[in-house]
Amino acid sequence: MKKKAIVLAGTRGIGRAIADGLRDVVEETVVTGRSDLDTSDLEAVKRFAALHPETDVLVLNTGGPPALPFDEITEELWTRYFHQLFLSFVLLLQRVHVRNGGHVILISSFHVREPGPKMALSNSLRLAFISVFKTASKTAMLRNVSFVNIAPGPTRTDRLAELAAKSGRTIEDVADGLPTKRVVDPAEIGAFVRFLVEKDIHAMSGVTIPFDMGIGDFVL
Ligand SMILES: NC(=O)c1ccc[n+]([C@@H]2O[C@H](COP(=O)([O-])OP(=O)(O)OC[C@H]3O[C@@H](n4cnc5c(N)ncnc54)[C@H](OP(=O)(O)O)[C@@H]3O)[C@@H](O)[C@H]2O)c1
Repeated sequence: MKKKAIVLAGTRGIGRAIADGLRDVVEETVVTGRSDLDTSDLEAVKRFAALHPETDVLVLNTGGPPALPFDEITEELWTRYFHQLFLSFVLLLQRVHVRNGGHVILISSFHVREPGPKMALSNSLRLAFISVFKTASKTAMLRNVSFVNIAPGPTRTDRLAELAAKSGRTIEDVADGLPTKRVVDPAEIGAFVRFLVEKDIHAMSGVTIPFDMGIGDFVL
């Protein structure tokens, strides 16, 4: 059977780098952007799953939430991002069958290990979903389907440029402020996902892999 990959939020940034990486190793790649599948819209998510009930590679990715002080996060924002970052992905895991020997990749954030002060929406909802992701990995292990959560640090994408611009900075300013003096190249994430699929790596599952160049202070 032809191998198929679904890459959500694959039109730009990290998702696009993953879609580019996978294109030569699967026969069919379905790439969505916000206009094809807004993951805060649960009805759209259900329609998408009905249209794509099976795949070999499922990349769960979406746009990131705004950076806000905790007191400024409204109930409406909590609900919207609960749908966008959590419930949509749960529904997709339940409704899109990943074939035996397949891969499920989640794009989360390095903030799940070290919560950023203005990133409560991101930290909390992603962390909750990672728990579901782990549970699903246990159910699928008998079928040799592997689940890998990639937790990027500051990565050269529109998202980072937009977050930096909020405080009058550029990506280069962000890089200058890091001990590495650089940010992550999204192509490295694309190459890693391609490697997992192309080389049929299944010994790694149910884990979170930081792509933060080593800037995190956690030990494990
Ligand atoms: N870049 C970083 O430094 C960094 C660090 C940690 C975590 N992350 C996380 O990694 C993920 C990808 O970020 P990125 O840096 O690659 O962002 P990006 O370059 O800004 O690209 C965002 C992608 O998400 C799609 N998207 C936006 N809102 C969506 C929605 N409501 N539903 C479905 N798709 C949506 C966009 O589609 P359109 O093209 O149609 O708009 C685009 O494909 C985000 O969750 C982000 O928070 C990024």
